[in-house]
Amino acid sequence: MIEGGSHVAIGHGKVILLGEHAVVYGRPALAAAIGLGARATAERADHDVLTIAPWNVRVEPSVDPGAPELARAFAAVLAQYPEGRPTLSVAVDVELPGGAGLGCSAAIGVSVIGAIDDTLGVAREPRARADASLAWERVFHGNPSGIDGTMAACGGIAVFQRGQPLERVAPREPLRLIVGYGGEASSTRAMVESVARQRDRAPERVDQVLDGIAALVRNGRLAIEAGDHAALGKLFDLCQALLSSLMLSTTKLEEMCDAARRAGAFGAKLTGAGGGGCMIALVGDASAAPVREALAPLAAQIFDVEAGAP
Ligand code: MEV
Repeated sequence: MIEGGSHVAIGHGKVILLGEHAVVYGRPALAAAIGLGARATAERADHDVLTIAPWNVRVEPSVDPGAPELARAFAAVLAQYPEGRPTLSVAVDVELPGGAGLGCSAAIGVSVIGAIDDTLGVAREPRARADASLAWERVFHGNPSGIDGTMAACGGIAVFQRGQPLERVAPREPLRLIVGYGGEASSTRAMVESVARQRDRAPERVDQVLDGIAALVRNGRLAIEAGDHAALGKLFDLCQALLSSLMLSTTKLEEMCDAARRAGAFGAKLTGAGGGGCMIALVGDASAAPVREALAPLAAQIFDVEAGAP
């Protein structure tokens, strides 16, 4: 909370360390909040309005199916508050690229809900705030697992599984990641639908891949708790191969992963929905700079993050 009676609420960006897509089908996934995210403030106003400063976007809530997604998502959030509440102006500042797999929309949604909660005096736990953000996320992504909103609200490193309590994971050693954004935006909805279509056609094959990813998640948790980054890096590489077999990778993502590995990363993989967006490389102190350099000619943006850091 900042002075002057206005309230700042935060939604964290996230990376999925292991388990994207499998998590949509009830398998566990390992995810970490990152230090980039969204910040929102709300104040009473003569009508409801949402502004996203860096994008120069200003919308009023709308339930019209033809309205912009942001207007419909804002309406879906507001519909969860009692009728007759004061009308609000909500302003968001966001540091994440959109459509890049870093949980940008969930971070915005959670920060918006947090700002409204604070302004209206609604107190709820982070996980309840994450649940409230599902209505927002559904407008953008169709059938989200809820992992993005949960990490946006709860932070840290955790194993997420649909319908289960969030399991916190305590890393023995800090996990340093170089995140490379290839500059190709991707649609989570389209990638989730593509996996669903492949699963309709070949359920056994796709379920085997999803089970394989779930096994990597279980081992990944142990590797993080043991501080075994060499093992975790190998799990990243295996996960990347499984995600590629579901046609979720791109030439750009493969090039960035290869370059990071050659420059000394423990391992590298796409993160989030794939089909564009970001890759993550697990690095140590010695490999961080070479990996950044190797990614520089390939990536549109590079972020150096500590997994789970506030
Ligand atoms: C998106 O960050 C992760 C996906 O698994 C979709 C979801 O879990 O909602 C691709």
